[in-house]
Amino acid sequence: MNTITSDIKITKTKATKIHDVDFDNLNFGKTFSDHMLVCNYKNGQWQSPEIVPYQPIVLDPSAKIFHYGQSVFEGMKAYKDSDNNIFLFRPLENFKRLNISSKRLAIPELPEDYFMEGLKTLLRIDADWIPTKEGSSLYIRPFIFASGQGFHASPADEYKFIICCAPSGSYFSGKVKVLIEETYSRSANGGVGYAKTGGNYAGQFYPTQLAVEKGYQQVIWTDDTNHEYIEEAGAMNIFIRINDTLITGPTSDRILDGITRKSIIELAKAKGIHVEVRKITVNEVIEAAKNGTLKEMFGAGTAAVISPISGFGYKGHDYDLPELEDTYAAFLKKHITDIQTNKSEDPFGWRVKA
Ligand code: PLP
Ligand code: COI
Repeated sequence: MNTITSDIKITKTKATKIHDVDFDNLNFGKTFSDHMLVCNYKNGQWQSPEIVPYQPIVLDPSAKIFHYGQSVFEGMKAYKDSDNNIFLFRPLENFKRLNISSKRLAIPELPEDYFMEGLKTLLRIDADWIPTKEGSSLYIRPFIFASGQGFHASPADEYKFIICCAPSGSYFSGKVKVLIEETYSRSANGGVGYAKTGGNYAGQFYPTQLAVEKGYQQVIWTDDTNHEYIEEAGAMNIFIRINDTLITGPTSDRILDGITRKSIIELAKAKGIHVEVRKITVNEVIEAAKNGTLKEMFGAGTAAVISPISGFGYKGHDYDLPELEDTYAAFLKKHITDIQTNKSEDPFGWRVKA
């Protein structure tokens, strides 16, 4: 791989903010590290990345991001072990997915070394910002948006790729109660559901607000045709345990191909858990809840890690999940976080040193 590290211009902050941060009580994504990486696309190519102090961005009011939502993002985490080594989890998967999203949004694809070398350099500079307390990590947000100007509804001619980082604690404070959606849709066949683009999230906010008003924290999206199949949640993929089988829906152009999801499938299989990747109907889950074979449901994602679901609502009824002693969720979460934080062997080769 050709390296661009020497081309990255670095301007360090004159005043670190790190002493203002209470690393023992971190929220999710509310505090930001000292630096960020910025890389501009203009004249038909990506320019050399720069690392600068974390700061606001100045944009023209006609920048196309504001009008047409041409943007994509990723979510990743960095961890530090007891010897201060920095690790990423399957970062190339995030890089590939960013370009898959970009292609769908007509955003120019980014070269791999700009992403990987840029990210690693930024992490080494902001290494002190990587929390080590159990359950916390440095959440990394790479994103690209249309900074080019004009009201014409067509792709911009200029873009910004930025990476910023937020030392973060858990995304959810406890178990999550979810509402299975029967009216609204997150995505549709041929749409942008598989892309990590801002509009997919904006479109969920209103139905999620309605669910929150009814006492749920997240919506579980169902297919847009008949609302018959379980798809995914607002910020995570969904796993369902019926008896001792772990089931998750197949990815499609409506669902984000989650890196945590695919890691869990591989890990669970390696640990001897029977895994089925297949379509699962809401009716099957209701039946299992009624006959006592529904053991667990959990969400999986970078921010959410593995988040157990306490119960779900559907058509005005609430269904509670049992309180089990030994859950697949806890077992898989321990194994995956031990790999991420270098507390265990990594037989899959997922951990990458920064
Ligand atoms: N689905 C959605 C809609 C998400 O926003 C996320 C979070 O990134 C996921 C699934 C999980 O994906 P990953 O495990 O790659 O973070
Ligand atoms: C992530 O898990 O990284 C996500 O992108 C979810 C996010 C919308 C907070």
